[in-house]
Amino acid sequence: MASPRRPGESGPEERPEEGGEAAIAAHWREEGPLPPPEGLRRTANVRDRALWDRFARAGFPDAFREFGDLLDWIRPFRQVFDGSRPPFYRWFVGGELNASANCLDRHLATRGDRVAIRFVPESERAEDRILTYRALHARVNELAALLREEAGVLAGDRVTLHLPMTPELPITMLACARLGAVHSVVFAGFSAEACGHRIADSGSRVLVTMDGFWRRGRWVDHRAIAHRASEVAAREGRSLERLLVWTREPEAPRPGGPTGPVPELHLAEALVRFRGTTVEPVPMPSEAPLFLMYTSGTTGRPKGAQHGTAGYLAYAAATTRLVLDVHPDDVYWGLADIGWITGHTYIVYGPLTLGATTILYEGIPDYPDADRPWRIAERLGVDVLYTSPTAIRQLRKEAPDAPLRHRLRFRVLGTVGEPIEPEAWRWYFDAVGGGRAAVVDTWWQTETGGILCSTVPALDPMKPGSAGPPLPGIDLAVLDEHGAPIARGSGRAGNLVVRAPWPGLMQTIWEDPDRFVATYFARYNRDRASRDWRDWPYFTGDGALEAADGYIRILGRIDDVINVAGHRLGSKEIESACLTVPGVAEAAVVPVLDPVRGRLPEVFVAIAPGAPDPGEVASRVTAAIEREIGKIARPRAVWVIADMPKTRSGKIMRRVLAALANGTDAGDITTLSDPAVVEEIRRRVAAGRSSSGSAPGPGST
Ligand code: WT7
Repeated sequence: MASPRRPGESGPEERPEEGGEAAIAAHWREEGPLPPPEGLRRTANVRDRALWDRFARAGFPDAFREFGDLLDWIRPFRQVFDGSRPPFYRWFVGGELNASANCLDRHLATRGDRVAIRFVPESERAEDRILTYRALHARVNELAALLREEAGVLAGDRVTLHLPMTPELPITMLACARLGAVHSVVFAGFSAEACGHRIADSGSRVLVTMDGFWRRGRWVDHRAIAHRASEVAAREGRSLERLLVWTREPEAPRPGGPTGPVPELHLAEALVRFRGTTVEPVPMPSEAPLFLMYTSGTTGRPKGAQHGTAGYLAYAAATTRLVLDVHPDDVYWGLADIGWITGHTYIVYGPLTLGATTILYEGIPDYPDADRPWRIAERLGVDVLYTSPTAIRQLRKEAPDAPLRHRLRFRVLGTVGEPIEPEAWRWYFDAVGGGRAAVVDTWWQTETGGILCSTVPALDPMKPGSAGPPLPGIDLAVLDEHGAPIARGSGRAGNLVVRAPWPGLMQTIWEDPDRFVATYFARYNRDRASRDWRDWPYFTGDGALEAADGYIRILGRIDDVINVAGHRLGSKEIESACLTVPGVAEAAVVPVLDPVRGRLPEVFVAIAPGAPDPGEVASRVTAAIEREIGKIARPRAVWVIADMPKTRSGKIMRRVLAALANGTDAGDITTLSDPAVVEEIRRRVAAGRSSSGSAPGPGST
C-alpha cells in the first residue's frame, strides 16, 4: 500500500517553467574531433559498424534480440518487444530469468575463482576485501535464505536498503533479486526523513541498514537513522516489521546505542545459522520489477522509478560492453555510489553480468588526498574508470600532476552526471589517460536505465564538451516547443526526446502510472488513445543542442531539477524543507554555477514581518534542509529577503532569481508586479558575496 500523498501530488507534473539549469548553461566553443585511440581498434568489444546497420530504424525491435541474448535464461523469451499498450512496454516477452543468477551462478563453472568484487576501504591501513564469484554467490545465498526464513521476504515484496558503500550493499541487492523481491536502495547520505518517505512510498516491511561507516577518517553512526526513518514511515502509515543491521566490521559485536520499537536483527550473528545454505534463484518473468530507484522530479516528492528485470539487465550488460568496453578479464572501477542509478547499472549489474571484477571503494575520491584514486588504480591495474565531472574537477584542482606520477593503464575513461567542460575533459584525457585512453562522455538518466548517448570508444571520434551521438537503436531528437525537430547544426537549443522505446526504459513510476504518463510522455503525445509507440516520444527534461554531425551537447535540466555534483535534487523538495522553518513565508531554490561541483543550490527565503533575525533564519533553513533531505542538499548560500520577484498573477520568477544569483542578466522584468524588488535583491547578493568572496555573506549560511 502506498503512503498517503500530499494533496495534488499525484496529478500531472507541473509544466516546467522556462529556465532551469539549461538557462544558465556554460557555453563553450565546439572542439575536436579527436580520433579514437589506435590501441582500441584492435581490442575493443565493438570494432566495426555492422552493429549500426543492424540497429538502423528498420531493425526495430528485432535488433534488440542480441541484447537479450547476453543474458542467461531459465525459459527463453518468445517475443522481443510488445508495444501494444504505450507507453507501458514489455521486453523479451515470455522469458523467465533471475538477475542474481545472471550476475553469479552463470559464472561459477568457468570463472568461480575470479574476483567479482574487490572492496577498497577508506582507510589505507585496512586491507582490501576480496569476494570471488564463488564467495559472493555463497554470501548472497546465505542472506537470501535468511531474508526468506527470518524476515518472510517473498517475490514481489519491496525491501528498502539504506546502506553505505561496502560489499554488504550489493550482497543485499542480489539476495533480494534471488528471491524475486524488489530492492529500493536509498543513498546513505539521505536523512532519516528522506529514507522514511521512501520506505512508506514503496511499502517496504523490511529495512536493511548498517551500524556505521567511515567518511574522511570519521566514524559515521548510521544505525540511529534507521530508527528515526521507521518513525517517519510509521507516521505515513507504513510500519516496518523488521530492521536488519549489518556491522561495518563483520566480526564486530552487536551494535550498541538506542533502539526503537522495530525488532532488530544483527545480521553477521544471525547468518551463522545459514552458513552454506543455498537458495534456488526464483524464476521471474522478464517484466517482473527488479528495483525501485527514487529520483527527484518537478513536484514535491521523489518518485520511485521502477525498472524491470530482463530489459534493464540486458541493457545494462550491453552498454557496459559497448560504451565502457568492459571485458570479462578487466578490472573495472565505477567511482560512484551504488545509492544512485550509476552504481546500480555500472558498479553492480553491468560488470557482474559480464563476469568482470568490479571495484567498490568506500571513500570519497580525494581522501586522504587527491592522489588516492591513482594509487588505487595503479595498485589494482584498473583498465576502465567511470566517474563524474565533479570528481574530475576536484582531483584536477587539488593535484593536477598526481596522475603523472603513477603507472596508469586506463583503456577507457568514462564521465557521467553533468556536462563536462573541454578544459576538464582535456585533463582527464591527457593527464589521466596519457592520451591513450578513450574518453566517453555518457549521457543518461535514472529513468533510462543505462547510457543513451555517448561515443563508442574504438569507433567514434571524440569531441570534448559534447556527449556524442545516440547509441545504436536509440532514436534521439531535439524538438522545439511545438514538437517539430530542430535542424542539426542550426545552433538552436531544444528539448531532448527519445522517439523509440528501448529495453532500459523504466517501466513506470511505482504505483503511479498516471504520473509516469504525465511526466514523461504528456508533453509530446498528441493522442492519448494512440496504440502506436511512435506517438509517444519520451521527454527527458534536458535541454540540448545537436551539432551538424549529430553530436549532442547537453545543456542541463529545463525543469525544477538541480544536478548538484551529479546528484539530482528537486527544487520543490528543498523549498518544502525551507518552509518548515518558522518565520519563512516563501522559498525559492535556484541552481548556481560552481567551478568544481557544477551546480549548487542557493536559497532565497522571504521572511514574514516580525520574524527572528535573518542570520538565525538562514542557519535554521540550512539545518532544515539537512534534516529533511540530507547534507548533499546543503545550499551554498541562503539569501534572506523581504520580497520575492513575482509576476502580476503572483508566481515567483525563479528565472530572475537564478540570474541574480549567477550574476547574469535578469532579462525582461517588465512583467513583474514590482520590478524594484530586483534591484534590492541584486544589492543584497552583491553585498553578501563581496564580504566573503563567493562564500555566503551575512544573513546567509
Ligand atoms: C540528469 C540525470 C545517469 C546517471 C547520473 C545521473 C544530467 C547525466 C550527463 C552528461 C550532461 C548529464 C542530465 C540528466 N546528465 N549525464 N554526460 N552530460 N548532463 O542520473 O540523477 O537521473 O540525473 O543528469 O541533466 O537529465 P540522474
